[in-house]
Amino acid sequence: MVRARDDDEEDMRDFVKIAFAPIAAPEAGALVVFVGEDLELSEAAAALLPGAKALIKAAAEPGKFKGKPSMSLDILAPHGLSVSRLVVIGLGGEKDRAELDFVTLGGLVMGKIPGGSEATILFDFPFEIANLPAAAADFTLGVRLRAYRFEIYKTKKPDDEEKDKPAAITIAIKDPAAAKREAKARDAVADGVVLARNLVNEPPNVLNPEEFARRAAELEELGVEVEILDEKALGKLGMRALLAVGQGSHYESSVVIMRWHGAKSSKAKPIAFIGKGVCFDTGGISIKPAGGMEDMKGDMAGAACVVGLMHALAARKAKVNAVGAIGLVENMPDGRAQRPGDIVKSLSGQTIEIINTDAEGRLVLADLLWHVASKYKPQGMIDLATLTGAILVALAQEYSGLFSNDDDLAAKLEAAGKATGEKVWRMPLAKAYDKMIDSKFADVKNTGGRHGGSITAAQFLQRFVDGTPWAHLDIAGSAMGSPASETSQGWASGWGVRLLDRLVADNYEK
Ligand code: BES
Ligand code: MN
Ligand code: ZN
Repeated sequence: MVRARDDDEEDMRDFVKIAFAPIAAPEAGALVVFVGEDLELSEAAAALLPGAKALIKAAAEPGKFKGKPSMSLDILAPHGLSVSRLVVIGLGGEKDRAELDFVTLGGLVMGKIPGGSEATILFDFPFEIANLPAAAADFTLGVRLRAYRFEIYKTKKPDDEEKDKPAAITIAIKDPAAAKREAKARDAVADGVVLARNLVNEPPNVLNPEEFARRAAELEELGVEVEILDEKALGKLGMRALLAVGQGSHYESSVVIMRWHGAKSSKAKPIAFIGKGVCFDTGGISIKPAGGMEDMKGDMAGAACVVGLMHALAARKAKVNAVGAIGLVENMPDGRAQRPGDIVKSLSGQTIEIINTDAEGRLVLADLLWHVASKYKPQGMIDLATLTGAILVALAQEYSGLFSNDDDLAAKLEAAGKATGEKVWRMPLAKAYDKMIDSKFADVKNTGGRHGGSITAAQFLQRFVDGTPWAHLDIAGSAMGSPASETSQGWASGWGVRLLDRLVADNYEK
């Protein structure tokens, strides 16, 4: 079997090197500058680069460059400058500025800087920026997310080996020390996103439930308390719904509890995050069709997000008490696998009739939610799960589905979604839908028929939250199989780490 880690570990993080420096004209490499619709440089840039203005104006027409957002102009061997390339990035007019997002801008700029090359970003703008150090920190986050690649299993190097090396980026800015300080916290978040993406991208023969648990345990290095409940412990507790899913797997199922104590008082009620960690979902006895089944290696994206988030919170020493709980299983067909028709008793005491063994995520979450609610009594709990294909039918890949029994928590998540661009769309919960999962033979059944598949899945989960303020995020469309964007190479997006880090920062830190 191939091993991902060992000597490749360094390779997994150093895709780009970023430094901060005072504003000065660079001697070599590429130089990136920003202009508005009028093609005017910032005052500092204009003073530093005499002749650049004329150069840009001259190149703009043949280059059809009008300074519009996300448009750029590449001037090679710019006359009168010692750099090899002048990259001019458009920011548009006044209206566009309201929507200026520095994370996306960082991604866009990184997309123009090939591996192995050197670039200086003249981080100065032709208009006022409210908080320049924060903008620079967001920018570096975007740079790092764009630079991320997952290529540890490629043994053939590209023809141009230079491109395989990290780019070296210098951010030239008025107060480099302040920017560096701000960037440190954002770096923790970037590391969390990278961690989540790596976990989701890993092949399922490497990242099985046992290996996933070991990787989660590495959070101990950051001061996170990690507890692994093995099958024996889960059996003793009574998590039979979760165990039933892993029954057909060669690997041992487990629950990993991660606790971060960052609040002033150790008694402050925690906020809890719960993740579906189905390391591979064949569907079980209700087996999935072959086409595209390889994508089901990403069915642990909820758990990956929780691990990435706990990493981010601990690395930036967030002033919050947080609990992360992930259920790690593999859903396989086997002589010992569960069957349609089986009835299992969940930790809550409620019995569940299995209609379809492919509706397995909700079984894992049912026991996890009940355990977290009763043991940790959190002020709120949020679960993330690649739970239903139906959420893709409803929302495509743009938004994650949000279901909640608490308007305040839902509003906080919507606000964090707008702030980070990891958007959520609230979907309904209601008694009428709840009836669709009443079972003839048990308390509840694990599927609700063809219609409203994401809603009946959420209704199922709600029966296991015990009145705790709760939100469920269905991330089947947003966390895996994602299109490439300014800040992602595609497939594993690391969705949710930035959203939930922001939720905590804006609402739960004291
Ligand atoms: N992991 C899948 C959902 C999924 C689908 C995630 C597509 C990512 C992309 C989940 O376990 C599943 O199989 N759900 C079934 C539920 C059905 C049997 C009620 C589905 O969506 O078809
Ligand atoms: Mn399934
Ligand atoms: Zn699944």
